[in-house]
Amino acid sequence: MENSEDVFNDDYEHPENVEYILESVLMPSDGSSEFNLLAEDYNSILLNQCRCNETTCENIETCTHGGQYEFKPQQKELTLKKLENTARPIIECNDLCGCSKNSCLNRLVQYGPRRNLEIFHSTRYRSHGLRTKVHIPSGAFICEYAGELLTVTEAKKRLENNHTLGLMNYVLVLNEYSNEKKQQVTIVDPSRRGNIGRYLNHSCNPNCYIGAVRIDCPIPKLGIFAARDIEAQEELCFHYGGEDQSKNINEGKACLCAAANCTGFMPNTSIE
Ligand SMILES: C[S@@+](CC[C@H](N)C(=O)[O-])C[C@H]1O[C@@H](n2cnc3c(N)ncnc32)[C@H](O)[C@@H]1O
Ligand SMILES: [Zn+2]
Ligand SMILES: [Zn+2]
Ligand SMILES: [Zn+2]
Repeated sequence: MENSEDVFNDDYEHPENVEYILESVLMPSDGSSEFNLLAEDYNSILLNQCRCNETTCENIETCTHGGQYEFKPQQKELTLKKLENTARPIIECNDLCGCSKNSCLNRLVQYGPRRNLEIFHSTRYRSHGLRTKVHIPSGAFICEYAGELLTVTEAKKRLENNHTLGLMNYVLVLNEYSNEKKQQVTIVDPSRRGNIGRYLNHSCNPNCYIGAVRIDCPIPKLGIFAARDIEAQEELCFHYGGEDQSKNINEGKACLCAAANCTGFMPNTSIE
């Protein structure tokens, strides 16, 4: 299995002057109560360990976390089973779980981005993009979208600033719902500090999508997964509109994705 080493592995670098971070970090404190709540969540540990004992944690019937990933021997790696419901949380096993790290089939994002990714100049998008040097199977984990974790107030300020100054926008807002009710919003900005995930462009017909992945913290990681088989040299893209792709279209900047179903506009990043 490609990701079977139980160590975090990420030796990518930025082509420009941005601080490389391996996973999301808190924004600088602004002293607000909103920041304090975010910091409290960031510093909390999820006490939801599974009680499996040396089993594979594959089976949703027996493992309280399992069931989202599957190991297909022909692909030689864990892949995400269900592609339809991206808002569904994915919970990985962690150090508190009863299972063995070596045999657990519910640990993927925690080992870091896949290898053979490459930052390049995308002529289509006239800026940086991310592509793969080798084939990627459907459902495979690409990388986290890691950056500074923002409060809603700080995110609104940064969005306004990006808009006013005509800067590229890296702020990503992930809403999670349960029974159609919004449960949690996670906002990540890799503009100043981030990982390789910041280079994926938007497409109206993307080959990747974002899922919320929890490991040992109530704040999810934004995991980028392959939405289909992806060929070597293909640029990796996801839909910036997130869970509701019909919203916020026809409002943003002109879209350069060139997909047959392109709406002509990039979705605006909005915070409800
Ligand atoms: C998260 S960054 C993606 C990486 C970026 N291209 C770079 O050079 O660092 C998002 C920015 O890339 C550009 N971009 C991404 N997708 C685009 C699209 N479909 N059409 C036009 N510009 C896009 C926009 O400037 C957007 O604000
Ligand atoms: Zn388990
Ligand atoms: Zn496990
Ligand atoms: Zn488009």
